[in-house]
Amino acid sequence: MTTKTLAFFVAVTFSMTSAWATDRAPDATHGKILHNKNCMGCHDNHQYTRPNRIIHTFEDLSARVKFCDAAANANFSSDDLTDVVEYLNADFYKFRK
Ligand code: HEC
Repeated sequence: MTTKTLAFFVAVTFSMTSAWATDRAPDATHGKILHNKNCMGCHDNHQYTRPNRIIHTFEDLSARVKFCDAAANANFSSDDLTDVVEYLNADFYKFRK
């Protein structure tokens, strides 16, 4: 395979992936910053690893982050929500998407 062909496949794969999600890749580092600034008012990170935690799927996690965004009055954009979910999933929940 030539370099040109390879570059073409990489480009196609990348554009397909971003079309499925939003038009950008989720950014866990940004999510962590947002989380630590807005989400430690009522609970800290221990909530996410407690034995009787209430989140069991990736969908639960997305729904809970939306709910707690309203509770925290954080007014996250949909990109912000995606980033915070990405951070929580990468560092704590580790669900398969
Ligand atoms: C106004 C208080 C409050 C704020 C602020 C808050 N939360 Fe929560 N959150 C709760 C409560 C209460 C629970 C536990 C609900 C239960 O145990 O039934 C919870 C639980 C959670 C859980 C589930 C933990 C588990 O059991 O696995 C996640 C995830 C979560 N919060 C994310 C966030 C995020 C992200 C933010 C910032 C946008 C945030 N929370 C800010 C009140 C809050």
